[in-house]
Amino acid sequence: MGRSTCFQTGHIFGFFLLLVFMGSNNKVESQAEPPPPPKDEIQALHEIAAELGKKDWNFSENPCNNKSSWYTPPLPPNVPQPTVVKNSSVTCNCSLNAGQCHIYTIRLSGLDLSGVLPRSLSKLPYLKEIVLFRNFLSGTIPREWATMKLEFVSLSSNRLSGPVPSYLGNITTLTVLSLEDNLFSGTIPPEMGKLVNMETLILNANYLTGQLPPALANLVRLKQFRISSNNFTGKLPNIFQSWKQLQILEIQAGGFEGPIPSTLSVMNSLVEIRITDLHGEGSRFPNLQNLKNLSRLVLRSCNISGPIPPYIWEMPLQTLDLSFNKLEGNFSGNEKTLFMFLTSNLLTGPITEWINTRDSHYQRDLSYNNISASLEPASCTEHLNLFKSFSGGNNLGRQSNCLKNFPCSKDWYSVHINCGGGSTTIGGINYDGDEDLGGPAKYFPLKETWETSSTGYFWDTSITSKDYIAQNVSFLKMNNSELYTRARLSPLSLTYYIRCLANGSYTVKLHFAEIVIRDNSSFQSLGRRVFNVYIQEKLELKDFNIKNAAKAADKEVIRSFKTVVRDKTLSIRFHWAGKGTTATPKRGTYGPLISAISVESDSKPLVSKEWNTKMKFVVGAVVSVMCLIVLILGILWRRGYLGGGKMSREQVLRGLDLQAGFFTFKQMKAATNNFHPANKIGEGGFGSVYKGLLLDGTIIAIKQLSTLSRQGDRTNLLLVYEYMENNSLARALSGPNESQLKLDWPTRQKICLGIAKGLAFLHEESSLKIVHRDIKATNLLLDRDLNAKISDFGLAKFVEEENTHMSTEAAGTIGYMAPEYALWGYLTYKADVYSFGIVTLEILSGKNNLKRRSEEGYVCLQDLALVLQQAGRLMELVDSRLGTEFNEEEAIRMMKVALLCSNPAPAARPIMSEVVNMLEGRTPVPEITMDPSIFRDEERFGALREQLNQIQSHRMTSSQSSDSAAMLQDL
Ligand SMILES: *[C@@H]1O[C@H](CO)[C@@H](O)[C@H](O)[C@H]1NC(C)=O
Ligand SMILES: *[C@@H]1O[C@H](CO)[C@@H](O)[C@H](O)[C@H]1NC(C)=O
Ligand SMILES: *[C@@H]1O[C@H](CO)[C@@H](O)[C@H](O)[C@H]1NC(C)=O
Repeated sequence: MGRSTCFQTGHIFGFFLLLVFMGSNNKVESQAEPPPPPKDEIQALHEIAAELGKKDWNFSENPCNNKSSWYTPPLPPNVPQPTVVKNSSVTCNCSLNAGQCHIYTIRLSGLDLSGVLPRSLSKLPYLKEIVLFRNFLSGTIPREWATMKLEFVSLSSNRLSGPVPSYLGNITTLTVLSLEDNLFSGTIPPEMGKLVNMETLILNANYLTGQLPPALANLVRLKQFRISSNNFTGKLPNIFQSWKQLQILEIQAGGFEGPIPSTLSVMNSLVEIRITDLHGEGSRFPNLQNLKNLSRLVLRSCNISGPIPPYIWEMPLQTLDLSFNKLEGNFSGNEKTLFMFLTSNLLTGPITEWINTRDSHYQRDLSYNNISASLEPASCTEHLNLFKSFSGGNNLGRQSNCLKNFPCSKDWYSVHINCGGGSTTIGGINYDGDEDLGGPAKYFPLKETWETSSTGYFWDTSITSKDYIAQNVSFLKMNNSELYTRARLSPLSLTYYIRCLANGSYTVKLHFAEIVIRDNSSFQSLGRRVFNVYIQEKLELKDFNIKNAAKAADKEVIRSFKTVVRDKTLSIRFHWAGKGTTATPKRGTYGPLISAISVESDSKPLVSKEWNTKMKFVVGAVVSVMCLIVLILGILWRRGYLGGGKMSREQVLRGLDLQAGFFTFKQMKAATNNFHPANKIGEGGFGSVYKGLLLDGTIIAIKQLSTLSRQGDRTNLLLVYEYMENNSLARALSGPNESQLKLDWPTRQKICLGIAKGLAFLHEESSLKIVHRDIKATNLLLDRDLNAKISDFGLAKFVEEENTHMSTEAAGTIGYMAPEYALWGYLTYKADVYSFGIVTLEILSGKNNLKRRSEEGYVCLQDLALVLQQAGRLMELVDSRLGTEFNEEEAIRMMKVALLCSNPAPAARPIMSEVVNMLEGRTPVPEITMDPSIFRDEERFGALREQLNQIQSHRMTSSQSSDSAAMLQDL
């Protein structure tokens, strides 16, 4: 087991007990169940339940029977673990006294118990393990516990307060003690020095003060010592030298002053050192030469100057973080180091060939250093961050190879970013989307006006691709909630670098909302997110806590700052300085969270309000098709109402963000022979459609949107479409026989993917967000090459009109309408996702969802699919016309996607870009199994939600990459 032993003490211990227990169980198996514990222990359990507020222990069952409700078997390690593990388990030891069983362990975690630590625990003389992490317990550790022979005590993530009592020192049997994420204050009592069996001591994230008592030197068996985020004072003490077995030392933002004591070098069992944010005067690099087992070394913000000693590069380090110091000179690096963070130093290079590897397991961040520009590699990979790595910042005097930022087209006066979210328009202001997944060492030149640099990964948890964007966990009610539903996270340092600005004074507004930590009576509310913000490298917010500032969760707080732009650039940097909790509600919940950024020049506004409203109307009325081809927009100002050059077509075009071209009205008239009735090919719900012939021979379809003009608006609009030779998907699949097309499997794949990409574009990429509202097979057109085109935007809504969702009278087509929309008029993008799911089922099955077929034993296609899924006969859903001519793997994937998308609960549906990834096989499709009766029983609809939320969190974890961070088991 080697190295992992020390990280997993909690589990190893638990596992060990389990084995012992199962061993003894095997013996008694033949003699039926074990006897119950003695009466006084049962009585003690009654009292303990009352003190904890534990209401559901079933005293008519035997607590020693591990088939009873007293015991929850742990999930096998190979199944996906839920993000928040609830555990309610009591075990007995029946091997101590012949014929007798005694309560041996009590584990109650993630249950939000709101009582106090039970005094009556001391009435269980054989109790060895008490685990109460992630509850809502208050008070302090009872004096009665001092008489016990406890070995394993975990009280993390509660609201325990007061001093750490000196009588803890009496429990000399203790090997594991975790008080992490509580409110303990005062000094560590010297009596703790009596705990000579202690192996794991975790005091992270409390308010402990004073110096560490020298008596701690007696804890010679210590393997893990974690005291991050406290208010200790004085220099880091020298007591470490007796801890010869120490493997993990974690002191992030403990409050201490440097330097790092030289005695560290004698602790040669160390595998991990994390010392950060030391106060006081600086020092040179500490001596670590003898630490041959060191795998993870973090000496961040420790005020270390001078060179990095060469032996560091010989060490087998998996992670090296020396960021935010004053290190200078060369770094040779070590090819085997997976994570290397040398951010913000004065290092000069070189950038060797291997640093720039393509293998994404290796992440190297050299941002903010002093490397000579001539050393810049010819090209850079995504996992090497060279933002401001070169002397003179970005001013290389030439176009950089690695920092491929866009040239400035003009001076900009404002920039708005929806951090972590999609592009959106609010109050006439366009917020740029910022949805790149992010990474540990990442620089993204996203736009002309801004780019980001992201450094660091979340420790002690599996690294996932979703780490850098937070998603709201509850429905948000605030205004402009679109800015807050997703927000960008940073585990260490995140810079938004705004460029191409006109020099002058600016107002920077930072929009925050705590969307992860809760404010209810639950451990979910006990997390403390604390971080700093620098604007133009000036510390503007120190120890900022969003929830405290807003006085609630899910509530926005906007901080406004004045700043000056002198060299056309503005940097806004978010920094985690090691403070606050890191394990509540989940391990890895910490670091800056930013929802949106507004930067506005104080001197010149970019656009007038008037322009914006008009802009909104015009684009609000016109919607175009997919980014791929065509979609040409003809705009006719009939009476010049909108006035001369105020809104140029280029501006409209930019607003639409489409690769479109323009036709003049004259051209349209020519193409249709002055809209001659002979060229009329149809009459849609929203106007007539004409066929037209352009001079270059292209056939087009022109739709006159007559009824869209609202009262008082005099704008008339024409939509120009590519002429679709093959009519609609509906006709091709299930129209009259003569109109049906033979759609083979690859074509069906292509059509499905094409629609998904089109919707992803409308929802996520286009700077105007569009909910189509009426995705169905008749609105999906097929061109000559059977490429799918989304059409008929008669019902489309721009999301800018309101906020995250629109409450609107449901309009759409029965059979394709998402239930939340059809029933309550609750409209979000997820409504289109639902319709897409139905269309996908149609593509797969070749059947039309609108045809009732209750006589065949099912109500709709989803119903049929779920019935077949339950019966394990999903393949029967595939269109029989295909015979065996289809790719089974792709078909299964497509079915799973269809079922996921057409899920009744909007939260469970993926967003369209995820769908594209799933269809292309880049990400796995989370499988969900539902009872088909959902479609016949509306009352059950709501009950699904919880289950689906779990699926969502599972989805978050199932995309995990290799587990390169050491897991810190929850204690
Ligand atoms: C408690 O356990 C008994 C015996 O197994 C069972 O009959 C009873 O329903 C349980 N009570 C509750 C509230 O679950
Ligand atoms: C702890 O141990 C000391 C010395 O053995 C004893 O005097 C004291 O009463 C004990 N404290 C408690 C709370 O039991
Ligand atoms: C911790 O110490 C700092 C000064 O070092 C002080 O500003 C802060 O209020 C203290 N926090 C608590 C909770 O005592």
